[in-house]
Amino acid sequence: MHEEARADVEAAEDLRALQEVRVKWLGKKGRITQELKGLGALPSDERREAGQRIHAVKEAIEAAIEARRATIHRAELAARLAAERVDVTLPGRSGPAGGLHLLTKVTHHLLDVFAGLGYEVVTGPELETDHYNFGALNFPPEHPARDEQDTFWTRDGRLLRTHTSPMQVRYMETHAPPFKVVVPGKVFRNEAVDATHEAQFHQLEALVVGERITMADLRGAIQEMADALFGEGTRTRLQPTFFPFVEPGAEFAIRWTHPKTGRDEWLELGGCGMVHPNVFAAAGYEGVTGFAFGFGIERLAMVPYGVPDIRWFYQSDLRVLEQFEGAL
Ligand code: DAH
Repeated sequence: MHEEARADVEAAEDLRALQEVRVKWLGKKGRITQELKGLGALPSDERREAGQRIHAVKEAIEAAIEARRATIHRAELAARLAAERVDVTLPGRSGPAGGLHLLTKVTHHLLDVFAGLGYEVVTGPELETDHYNFGALNFPPEHPARDEQDTFWTRDGRLLRTHTSPMQVRYMETHAPPFKVVVPGKVFRNEAVDATHEAQFHQLEALVVGERITMADLRGAIQEMADALFGEGTRTRLQPTFFPFVEPGAEFAIRWTHPKTGRDEWLELGGCGMVHPNVFAAAGYEGVTGFAFGFGIERLAMVPYGVPDIRWFYQSDLRVLEQFEGAL
């Protein structure tokens, strides 16, 4: 019987079959259990020896089942490990990689250019006071120049800056000349939104202050930027205009060749001029000279890259964004 039980145990291929073997031999109606029950019928002098023998068999079967269970478990584990085997030396599967937005790339490119010309890059707050956005920049309280820069106001009288120029005064208040800085950043206007106007866009501001800085230096700075952006010898143009914070003031344009039409055209970029004495006074400066210029970054991305609608920059549409993966 011992041998028969051992054969049963060895034949069990999985844990279920092994459980059936346990029931057959050790269960309530199992063979060993039956034999133990039969002990009572034996004469008392045989009972003790028979009992010991049956118990020994029972223990041997239990041990055999336990050993078999461990073997089956190991085999199952090994089979599972083999089935789920992975080669950890294979290169990983990477997800789709993101990329920088065209506006970010154009901004980085501009900052590279200006860093190369010795300018420091600084940034300022988007939530501004009337003082820095207008007053200190020589916009009188009811001056019509304010109307062109309507914006969003908070209840406590602050506003979303309409240009990066407020950083001119903020920077001067905390630094001494001479210096050259550029300020990239987001600006806001209360605009009727259309293909060329958004309620938020980006500008780059430049401010250079020192001794005996002249309009020729301003001219040269714009020329150097044009050369770096569009190649050596690119033509630039200044046309007189009014901005409250410069005197004289001008708008500037860069001549570039449209890649599709092959035609040369003026890319009107922004404003510039010699820093107004009232702006220096607002910053607590005396006896210095300087120039400033500022322009919209969107325009510098839209025209050269042929983006017809400014709203496309902010719609996160991959069909648009993916077209500029290789740009810059
Ligand atoms: N802040 C002006 C605007 O947003 C642009 C500008 C004009 C900036 C002349 C300047 C400047 O620094 O000198 O319309």
